[in-house]
Amino acid sequence: MKILSPRGTSDILPDQIAAWQSLETTARTFFKTYGYSELRTPVFEEAGLFKRSLGETTEVVNKQLLEVKSQRSESEDAGFCLRPEGTAAVVRAYNQHNMGREEFLSKLFYIGPMFRGERPQKGRLRQFHQIGAEAIGRGADHPLLDAEMMALAVNILKSSGVSDFKLKINSLGSAQDKQKFAQWLRDELKGKIGHLSGICQDQYERNVFRLLDSKDEACQEVIKRLDIGLRHLSDSGQAYFSRVREGLDRLGVEYEVSSQLVRGLDYYTHTVFEISCAGLGAQDALGAGGRYNGLVEQLDGGDRRFPQTMGAIGFALGMERILLALEAQGKAVTVKRSLDVFVVSGKPELERETFLLVDLLRRNGICADMDFGDGRAMKKQFEQADKLRARFVVIVGEGAAEGFNFTIKDMATGEQRPLLLDHIAKQIINLL
Ligand code: HAM
Repeated sequence: MKILSPRGTSDILPDQIAAWQSLETTARTFFKTYGYSELRTPVFEEAGLFKRSLGETTEVVNKQLLEVKSQRSESEDAGFCLRPEGTAAVVRAYNQHNMGREEFLSKLFYIGPMFRGERPQKGRLRQFHQIGAEAIGRGADHPLLDAEMMALAVNILKSSGVSDFKLKINSLGSAQDKQKFAQWLRDELKGKIGHLSGICQDQYERNVFRLLDSKDEACQEVIKRLDIGLRHLSDSGQAYFSRVREGLDRLGVEYEVSSQLVRGLDYYTHTVFEISCAGLGAQDALGAGGRYNGLVEQLDGGDRRFPQTMGAIGFALGMERILLALEAQGKAVTVKRSLDVFVVSGKPELERETFLLVDLLRRNGICADMDFGDGRAMKKQFEQADKLRARFVVIVGEGAAEGFNFTIKDMATGEQRPLLLDHIAKQIINLL
């Protein structure tokens, strides 16, 4: 039986690569202007890293971690998983390399594959790619940084060409506020939970916030009737959130406050946000993020000389979803590869001259190629030149061994002219 790519993964084909590269270039340009440096972490980590940070009861940890099993059974090799997201890995690296000791504020970004054992559907894959940013440090606890972070995500999306997306924000408050919020929800739902599905009842017990983004219709009805608001926030939590909104207003970033937005990972505190795009169907989140003060300490870092909590905030955008949105909006980037020159020859004896000419052109920075068809008919070689979108074809004729009989053909106009071997690269460069 033919072996195919694993379900929920996809090959990114040469014709699609321009769109990926264009998105990456846009993101890199913004990261540079906002002062972010790239960090590359391994694609697999100790599973405990994600269990401790994302939370044991979250979907991602509970159901979706893809474990890595080694043939070796030594205990040191046990317990790895493919990374389901980048934040925990960035914090792990931040701690491991004592970045907090060197820097007041570390601004880090990553672009790469993430892995979750989900049930695949449109926009939901088992291997997907994120563009992520994380700002961590003693200097990362400022409401304007929250606003800047959201503006950065929005600007990357806008510049990549996506439109019709919406930024929703909320605040969970401090760890204590969050506990208060969870308790309030439990109290409010106590009398109603018996009428809901087993899954919802389980979520009520294990992680009540999950009910807020439950897909279960009956549950949604109950949640809709709750007057959630921002009552769980302490005065300082309220003040912080107002300053975040003020920052967004100052930057002219449009947003909507959504008190139901809580996010599916446990590490969040204070600001949380999600960017959704109409027309993407069920998987409509282009990206999401939030503040995660305290995660640095929780993962056992933190600089003992600076007992103050490390602030941290970040986001991740889903590249596949952005590309799907661009496609749906008719704005997909489709640049086909092309070639400056395709070198052909009518005679197998001229293979050496053809081969050397291609090399000479390449050494002069000209994108050149030849047919490796072992003396295929000239017609076939021209067809190949067409397929490769060659601008010019250079025909190596008899006499090439003595340094003459090179002709160039413009594939658009059909115009032909002779070339002199001594000046061949220069002549072609002048034509390009
Ligand atoms: P997340 O909401 O789990 O957050 O993922 C962020 C984005 O990644 C989603 O909005 C979506 O676009 C994309 N994504 C997630 N899962 C899949 C999937 N199975 N298939 C395709 N795309 C997917 C995080 O990962 C956090 N680490 C974000 C963050 C960074 N928070 C703070 N810093």
